[in-house]
Amino acid sequence: MSSKDQKVSVSTFEKEVYEGLTAFPKYLSSKYFYDEIGDKLFQQIMALPEYYLTRAEYEIFQTHQSDIIKSFDTAKEGFDLIELGAGDGKKTKVLLQELLNQQYDFAYNPIDISQNAIDGLVRNLSLEMPEIVVEGQIGEYFEVLDRLKHISDRKKVIMVLGSNIGNLLHPRAIQFLEKLGNAMHSGDLVFMGFDQKKHPQKILDAYNDKSGVTAAFNKNVLTRINKELGGNFDLDKFMHWETYDPESGTAKSYLISTEKQTVAINSLSLEIHFEAWESMHTEISQKYDDDTVKWLAEEAGLEIVKSFTDSNKDYKNYLLKKTE
Ligand code: AVI
Repeated sequence: MSSKDQKVSVSTFEKEVYEGLTAFPKYLSSKYFYDEIGDKLFQQIMALPEYYLTRAEYEIFQTHQSDIIKSFDTAKEGFDLIELGAGDGKKTKVLLQELLNQQYDFAYNPIDISQNAIDGLVRNLSLEMPEIVVEGQIGEYFEVLDRLKHISDRKKVIMVLGSNIGNLLHPRAIQFLEKLGNAMHSGDLVFMGFDQKKHPQKILDAYNDKSGVTAAFNKNVLTRINKELGGNFDLDKFMHWETYDPESGTAKSYLISTEKQTVAINSLSLEIHFEAWESMHTEISQKYDDDTVKWLAEEAGLEIVKSFTDSNKDYKNYLLKKTE
């Protein structure tokens, strides 16, 4: 995932910051973690020893590349591989190489909100895999889904990796899957990563790393408010806090005010009062099991065809199709 701020106008940012910080309890959206600094911090997170998600999905791709491609069931007819939130495409390249080796007729359409990410990926692929037809597109998830149906007449396999769906609460996740379903013809497939429920401590550690990168990532929303909306948050007076509820499978990130304080945001003409230990909820990272994914898919008119997991069973990629 990368620079989500690029298409979000300042007025949306202002509006959502206003709404979140005048609500009780206070909240801010995790989509505002991502600017140039946030993108770099997220790259660092993906390389952290505690953040197992990226490595687990990479292992799945490396171990099962041939079966994954077989399960796309394209019988070597032409198809389009569309990736939402493509980022640097590191994991996808494993599949692309295998598709090339097996001489599939396909085009790759990476879609990301960051122009920068798409430009970099297209440039990199033209050097590393010049045989592949690549057509990058810029756009935000939900908006892109509306045009997806018209992207091609060929069979489509739509990939959403990184457990990005986990940043949506279940009702939004169902909406997202429904929209994907609407953009699909029968025979089209979704290939999606879902981080799995596991030892709660492992999840807590992944979102509360020793080196403090996740804390800096979480606080980047405050840095952005300071920079872009004329705020005066003192980052040292807020701490990152992570919780995980093993029953619901929801990991939640908060920023907690360590003292009673008032923060001003100039562009909103707003003063916000924080009690000592008052929280702002900033992110959810949902963890799943088969039953939950099955339920989400069914609610959205989809069904599970197959799944692939890593050796620790930490993470799963599910292949979904439209229910006939
Ligand atoms: C992008 N998203 C799926 C990541 C996650 O695991 O929720 C973002 C993240 N937040 C903290 N660490 C990583």
